[in-house]
Amino acid sequence: MNYKFAVEDKNYEDFSSGRVLYNQHGATSFPIRLATEIFQRCTEALINNGAHKPFTLFDPCCGGAYMLTTLGFLHGDVISKIYASDINEKILQLAEKNLSLLTKEGIEERISQLKNMFDEYGKLSHYEAQQSALKLQKELNSRVNTIEFNIFNADITKDITIQNRLEKVDILITDLPYGQLVNWSEEGEDEEAVKVLLNIVYPILSNISVVAIVTNKKSKFSSHNYRRVQKFILGKRQVTILQPIK
Ligand SMILES: C[S@@+](CC[C@H](N)C(=O)[O-])C[C@H]1O[C@@H](n2cnc3c(N)ncnc32)[C@H](O)[C@@H]1O
Repeated sequence: MNYKFAVEDKNYEDFSSGRVLYNQHGATSFPIRLATEIFQRCTEALINNGAHKPFTLFDPCCGGAYMLTTLGFLHGDVISKIYASDINEKILQLAEKNLSLLTKEGIEERISQLKNMFDEYGKLSHYEAQQSALKLQKELNSRVNTIEFNIFNADITKDITIQNRLEKVDILITDLPYGQLVNWSEEGEDEEAVKVLLNIVYPILSNISVVAIVTNKKSKFSSHNYRRVQKFILGKRQVTILQPIK
């Protein structure tokens, strides 16, 4: 796969998990270069279909919202609202903390925490994290828009109430825990699981919305309600970009 947007392999250390972004036992992260590439491919598809920014963004298996938070920092100028949901209530506490970093109060609080830690322990890592947080704060301060958040608990294999809890979603990006989806982990059922997810989210998408599903590279799935716009493989991951047929 050739990068189309994230052409330069930048240093994303400001976003390392546990540095400014919070970490928690059991939480996973996501390659930032790939996340920004996927996001920009999605916005390109939306704009080609006549959509106008800003866009709403949803990850229904958000975990600690590592991916959503980094996208908020890197592309927050074109995001109006972030929806984040997960089946695991505990991990949503981390998602909330991470997404709060995209607010002026949240990043200020993190800077003062890191400063206090540096004052107390004198560790270089706390100083460096504080420098990263100051850079991220500068980026936030240069923005005119603010992002709204909606974080909630939902089983994406079952919970059709999400259809009433969300307004229109422009971009859905999700990194599926392939083979480990809770309530969905029976062997050989992953393809079926993706279909169920796509059916559940179908009503909250418009005819120009874009869905990017990240799975294991061997995954094969299809849905009658969607057309495939792009598919690419990077390492062990496969990214499928779809648009609903309405
Ligand atoms: C690979 S992690 C996602 C990490 C996330 N992309 C990030 O950047 O922090 C997958 C998440 O899917 C969640 N999950 C598993 N089964 C689910 C289900 N049935 N409905 C919603 N979320 C589910 C898990 O709790 C886990 O947090």
